[in-house]
Amino acid sequence: MNDIQVTSSGVLAQPASLDLPPDFRFGVATAAYQIEGAAAEDGRGPSIWDAFSHTPGRVHGSDTGDVACDHYHRYPQDVTLMAELGVTDYRFSVSWPRVQPAGSGPANQLGLDFYRRLVDELLRHGVEPRLTLYHWDLPAPLEEAGGWPARDTAGRFADYAELVHAALGDRVRHWMTVNEPYCSSFLGYGSGDHAPGRREGPAAVRAAHHLLLGHGLAVQAIRAADPAARVSIALNLYAVSAYSDSDADADAARRIDGLANRFFLDPVLRGQYPADVVADLAPVTDFDHVRDGDLEIVASPLAELGINYYSRYVVAAPEPAGPPPAYWRPSSCWPGSENVRFLDRGLARTAMGWEIDPAGLVEVLTRVAREYPAVPLYVTENGAAFEDHVGADGEVDDPERVAFLRDHLLACREAIAQGVPLVGYFAWSLLDNFEWAWGYSQRFGIVYVDYGTQRRIPKSSARWYADVIRSAGLRAE
Ligand code: FCB
Repeated sequence: MNDIQVTSSGVLAQPASLDLPPDFRFGVATAAYQIEGAAAEDGRGPSIWDAFSHTPGRVHGSDTGDVACDHYHRYPQDVTLMAELGVTDYRFSVSWPRVQPAGSGPANQLGLDFYRRLVDELLRHGVEPRLTLYHWDLPAPLEEAGGWPARDTAGRFADYAELVHAALGDRVRHWMTVNEPYCSSFLGYGSGDHAPGRREGPAAVRAAHHLLLGHGLAVQAIRAADPAARVSIALNLYAVSAYSDSDADADAARRIDGLANRFFLDPVLRGQYPADVVADLAPVTDFDHVRDGDLEIVASPLAELGINYYSRYVVAAPEPAGPPPAYWRPSSCWPGSENVRFLDRGLARTAMGWEIDPAGLVEVLTRVAREYPAVPLYVTENGAAFEDHVGADGEVDDPERVAFLRDHLLACREAIAQGVPLVGYFAWSLLDNFEWAWGYSQRFGIVYVDYGTQRRIPKSSARWYADVIRSAGLRAE
């Protein structure tokens, strides 16, 4: 994967062509709470992330999304930036509490107007909008009523999807229902690292089911309103390897692959939960929250599938004692499999501590293509945090991120060569932003944000990405 040279400044020494197909989509992604700010403006209600970030001790540095990148006011400038970079597609999310502050009932037209303006601006600049309905910001009143562990939340989500589609369906073709239901359920209700910060294994499993049910109901609602709408979901998937070829380590890998990947892929694409994971979870729940007919709804046909990829898990059985556990994931993220050990291989890591493993992306993409019904695939998120600094010349030089993006785009090329129907890639993220429990300490953007002045500075990775897109011949200069 090293056939492209990068100079010390991170700029490509060779032509930027990565030989991706001529119609490949090159996007960037963001999410509402991470960039918008304007938390109390134009009738927006509070979400679980407002409550969580304002609770002392929950978020690094007590950071909140109150202002974030002020994208709510600066979106014209941000869209212009995207157009200058030449990105073909923009994946953004709609803030549920901005358009339906109570989580049910009538729409807040001022909130919807923001997304109308944003989408119009994108279309005017020739950037295709890709709308995610739920990127983790549940309206606070719905959490008070039980949150995702309560079945009713799935129905509320479908109503909200219908309402947003009614407002934007005439100009948005690509719809993503839910982003990373694993994180919303297992980190939100299992480990408590994410909002709403609950630590209840059984509730985490129920939350996962209701997120998937809400997804299916939303697919049906959108397709009923517009059969031509391209509807998908964004799942975070991991390459998972056993530390050794012992049976015990193989079983640990089966468990974690089961909870992280198959527990979501199987219901969405096959209409069933994996039997081995259901058995692993027996001490946690008897699945009496799953009703007849639910899984048919969850498996409503999709036009495409989004995959978010960041790293690989290398796992080992609890015994016998081997290298000590060395990973950031707390055991409570894995109900029923708490004792599995996550190991460090000594590879280069990002600032998040995630090992850099582009081969894992090839593995994930080929596995989904091989084992699940055929559907066009997108990498809907991939990127890396590094410690970026503004240099004396005012520039932000980020050669590590250039190498990261390059190696993962080469992984995309490899997957396509192996027959995977991969049609696009979205860099996470357009802008440095509020990285959830890490606050503003982690910079994932290809564009640097000076939070004091809100100045945007394209990093060398942004210029590199623009070169790649230009050389693919997708857009005129
Ligand atoms: C994903 C999230 C996204 C961002 C990246 C780094 O899990 O979907 O919002 O935080 O990780």
